[in-house]
Amino acid sequence: MINGAQPDPVKRQYEAYPYPVRDPAREMDELMIGSPSHPLEIDHFIFGGNRDWTQPTRILVAGGGTGDALVMMAQIFADWGANVELHYLDMSEASRAIAEARMAARGLGATYHTADLLSAPDLGPFDYIDCCGVLHHLPDPVAGASALKSALAPGGGIGAMVYAPYGRAGVYEMQDVLRTLVGNDQPAQQVELSRRLLSSLPPTSGIARNPFLADHISAGDAGLYDLLLHSRDQAYDVDGVYDLLDASGLELVSFSMPGRYNPRPLIADEELRKRAEALSPRAAGALAERLAGNQKAHVFYAVPKGTGEGRVAEVKGSAVPNMVGPRGAELASAIWENGGFTITVDGLTVERNLPKEVAGIITGIDGKRDLNAIGSMLGWDAKTFLLGFNNLYQPLNNFNFLRFSARRGL
Ligand SMILES: C[S@@+](CC[C@H](N)C(=O)[O-])C[C@H]1O[C@@H](n2cnc3c(N)ncnc32)[C@H](O)[C@@H]1O
Repeated sequence: MINGAQPDPVKRQYEAYPYPVRDPAREMDELMIGSPSHPLEIDHFIFGGNRDWTQPTRILVAGGGTGDALVMMAQIFADWGANVELHYLDMSEASRAIAEARMAARGLGATYHTADLLSAPDLGPFDYIDCCGVLHHLPDPVAGASALKSALAPGGGIGAMVYAPYGRAGVYEMQDVLRTLVGNDQPAQQVELSRRLLSSLPPTSGIARNPFLADHISAGDAGLYDLLLHSRDQAYDVDGVYDLLDASGLELVSFSMPGRYNPRPLIADEELRKRAEALSPRAAGALAERLAGNQKAHVFYAVPKGTGEGRVAEVKGSAVPNMVGPRGAELASAIWENGGFTITVDGLTVERNLPKEVAGIITGIDGKRDLNAIGSMLGWDAKTFLLGFNNLYQPLNNFNFLRFSARRGL
């Protein structure tokens, strides 16, 4: 604080309530994985599924918080034996201490910076930047995204998450209510008074009617503060994401769950479905978001404008598929036993029917064999195999279960 200036309220918040809440003492219980920035996703969306990971790769976690993306990347890249140098940046010292302790618990290292995200270009260039849940808290998100763009090395890209408005229905009016009632109190008192208000809300209030926020509200004081007492929180709808990127000199490569941006399965009527199918990807995504009404966030990959061509991995014989997380065996048995699978994302259940034979394809996916090798292993001719694989790929790509990465060089 200089010359009586007020401390940044966002910094004050994350010093008092690092978020998300993580306990370094329980770090070894499990490796938390997520999106963006799972290394398989980075390879798939930014490097065509074919990056040589023996080449030096510099990665920045911008607004790294309590360390989720840092720990996930550091552990997986270490397991791979990849040549990756990780940097963590956050303005909150309390958050950094937790991230550092989690990394230390795993015996992993990184370079830590307590600084503003706008200083990212001074630390670069980076081949990849993670920025999850941060841009929407900046005083000038375009300046923030532009700074990240300037910090990229040629060929580099960004994975980001920003909050979305419709799945967070009720949040923004309750933030206004609490700002009016407790905005001038100290953080601990704000939490206490907010809990009193929340304990007897009118049943008609937006927050009481949104079942998808329960996990955030029940995530202790830090979760409550992050959701309802944040001093700077601006949600982006699909158009907002496109506009933010455009104004920052970036272009969208893909959302990490492309299936959530497709209105087709949300419309039963054939005539209306055809109209939706005629829309541009941006307009279709905006329609799907409004129609489903359940998106709390957008997770996406972006690169400097004009460099998006060829970034996303394609289905081809030499592509190496990987199941993300432990879902492969589960999916294979669901397809084999039920002729398809069902997934529920933020309250919306999607069913996909698939021919039973494709379950066999999943069992051939080991992160090493390419599609040609899996086809030969199953004894299918190349054309039949690619047809079958495409059937499988579409739903798995839509919900981020399968990503291409050859883990070249490792
Ligand atoms: C909601 S947390 C997200 C943390 C982490 N990325 C994650 O996904 O778990 C937002 C983080 O951004 C940091 N942050 C906000 N504004 C920042 C800025 N201008 N410069 C650096 N860090 C910032 C906060 O300190 C906080 O740790």
